[in-house]
Amino acid sequence: MLADRTRLSITIAFLFVPAPGIAADPTSAALPAGADHYDHDFSDIPRYVKAFESPDRDAWQKPDDVVSLLQLWPGNVVADIGAGTGHFEPRLAKAVGATGRVLALDVEPHMVTYLKRRVKREGLGNVTVQKVAARDPGLADGSVDRLLVVNTWHHLPERARYASALNRALRPGGFVVVVDFTAESPEGPPAHARLSPATVIAELQAGGFSARTVEESLPLQYVVIGQKQVASKGRPAPTARQRQLCDVIKANADRARFTRGVNAYTVKTLQEALTPADDPELRALLFHDDPIVTRTAASVFSARGDRGLAVLREIAVDAALPASNRSVIDDVIWTANARQASAVGAARYGSPRPERSRAPRPPQGTGAALDED
Ligand SMILES: C[S@@+](CC[C@H](N)C(=O)[O-])C[C@H]1O[C@@H](n2cnc3c(N)ncnc32)[C@H](O)[C@@H]1O
Repeated sequence: MLADRTRLSITIAFLFVPAPGIAADPTSAALPAGADHYDHDFSDIPRYVKAFESPDRDAWQKPDDVVSLLQLWPGNVVADIGAGTGHFEPRLAKAVGATGRVLALDVEPHMVTYLKRRVKREGLGNVTVQKVAARDPGLADGSVDRLLVVNTWHHLPERARYASALNRALRPGGFVVVVDFTAESPEGPPAHARLSPATVIAELQAGGFSARTVEESLPLQYVVIGQKQVASKGRPAPTARQRQLCDVIKANADRARFTRGVNAYTVKTLQEALTPADDPELRALLFHDDPIVTRTAASVFSARGDRGLAVLREIAVDAALPASNRSVIDDVIWTANARQASAVGAARYGSPRPERSRAPRPPQGTGAALDED
């Protein structure tokens, strides 16, 4: 156990040797004058391959858990900012499949050369490796579904501006996952280089994201998710068709059995009543005062898979959405994510359960009180 712990410490120490000219003292409080980031030299590739690809790293980095948080689907485009030696690339490549694309971006030219060779060697045909500028991820507007930034956010200069560029690069419903070290972690970069989750959240918010920490299983790190916001269209006005659909839900509400906060019967009867032209009305029901209506409409979207979940994520960050509706929608999204992670994890890693140890969050909102499970 002690030997394991020592090996882990050595691995992490390798990850965070300070750059020449930057204080190694972990108690140092200030960045060098004028710096807004931790400028570190990553050109010694053999050294970083050894550190980043150490088999011991998985014990604390939990890459499968991190990738689960991205909720990737086949066909998605995901960019890994500061991809390094490509620790996450095989997993990302598998998650997005042959129809998807992984953009592995890094500022260090030697790292990029190494990673290009690795991608070729490992036959990762859906991974594109690209050298990028320090201040610009070089992504076209609306071109990616997800962004991953592991142990790299604190290296980025002008992070609020960088966050804006990331925000523009995301498609509607997309989000960024930032993983970095906690202040309490006994290991990690020097104290002056560490950023609190609150700082990362503020920087993402300055870039236009709705950001929050999420529950995770990482022993040394925190995870912040920044969701791309959409311009609110305001709370939709009730229509006669919405009232009809509410009647369908309410007519069946008391005949049903609830499972994990979802009334399968109301969802089924609502699905049967809907026509393709009803989509805007169904969206409007997410703003409804009655939590059973909100939950049923959200469950119909959730049952539509990735496209439906993208609508829910978009509405969940709409400023016009009342907080109580948001908690119901968040809960439906979370339940769907847990189900997907379980299914995708089992298929992807060949195990009956995903490796992520995070338990699904307990249902919230009024509908949860109806839960029989
Ligand atoms: C600590 S390593 C993390 C590598 C990888 N994400 C991982 O977890 O294994 C940080 C990486 O970010 C890259 N990097 C630093 N500043 C960057 C920037 N402004 N833009 C893109 N990559 C950057 C470095 O070259 C290095 O490869």
